[in-house]
Amino acid sequence: MTLKDAMRARHSVRAYIDKPIDQKSLDALSLCIKECNAQGDLNIQLVTNEPNAFGKSFLAHYGKFSGVKNYVALVGKKCKNLEEKLGYYGEKIVLLAQTLGLNTCWVALTFKKIKNAFTINKGEKLVAVISIGYGKNQGVPSKNKPLDKVCEFNGKSPAWFLEGVSAALLAPTAINQQKFFFTEENGTVTLTAGVGPCAKIDLGIVKYHFEIAAGKENFKWKV
Ligand SMILES: Cc1cc2nc3c(=O)[nH]c(=O)nc-3n(C[C@H](O)[C@H](O)[C@H](O)COP(=O)(O)O)c2cc1C
Repeated sequence: MTLKDAMRARHSVRAYIDKPIDQKSLDALSLCIKECNAQGDLNIQLVTNEPNAFGKSFLAHYGKFSGVKNYVALVGKKCKNLEEKLGYYGEKIVLLAQTLGLNTCWVALTFKKIKNAFTINKGEKLVAVISIGYGKNQGVPSKNKPLDKVCEFNGKSPAWFLEGVSAALLAPTAINQQKFFFTEENGTVTLTAGVGPCAKIDLGIVKYHFEIAAGKENFKWKV
């Protein structure tokens, strides 16, 4: 399964079967996390066999999670773009997981922070977690906004731009808000975040989807 296939196949999954993640997949996830941490100067950690973050608390019930025993803790040094960075690298882990036959769900609210399950060093922050495991199902497609609500395009817009924006619409966003907007001029792409819960995390997630489908070699991000 390619990353493009993974983007189409991925939907949030909140109910998992009682099956440990196989060793090969654990190794692949650990390697990916190590690379993300090195590239992004982050402290992302994979937590396995820890059922309490999604135990029988009010919050987990509210979020309709069941059988969650593994998750990725998205931790990094506090800085201006920490949320965006963790969004970008977190989604890289999510799409790798999908190619390995695993399911995931981004979770910013409906989990409990368990002491000693992972490390948050001085000056660091936990931004969100991603539940991970073998789903009871593959989830369901969410309703997407139409293309013209999330980008400016015309007859001259390059094909790679439209491919990128279409892939961005497949990305998970908090409460499916899809509050982002793309514009393109002479190969330079501008991505603006809307106002809403976790909008900066969403921005990083969406950026990763866009890059995969548009092809990094075709454009530059406006900084
Ligand atoms: C940053 C972020 C935070 C999220 N937080 C939660 C959460 O706390 N609880 C929950 O059940 N789902 C959460 N979600 C999952 C979204 O509701 C889900 O991605 C969205 O509805 C789109 O559905 P899809 O992922 O199946 O495409 C979160 C997603 C993102 C990107």
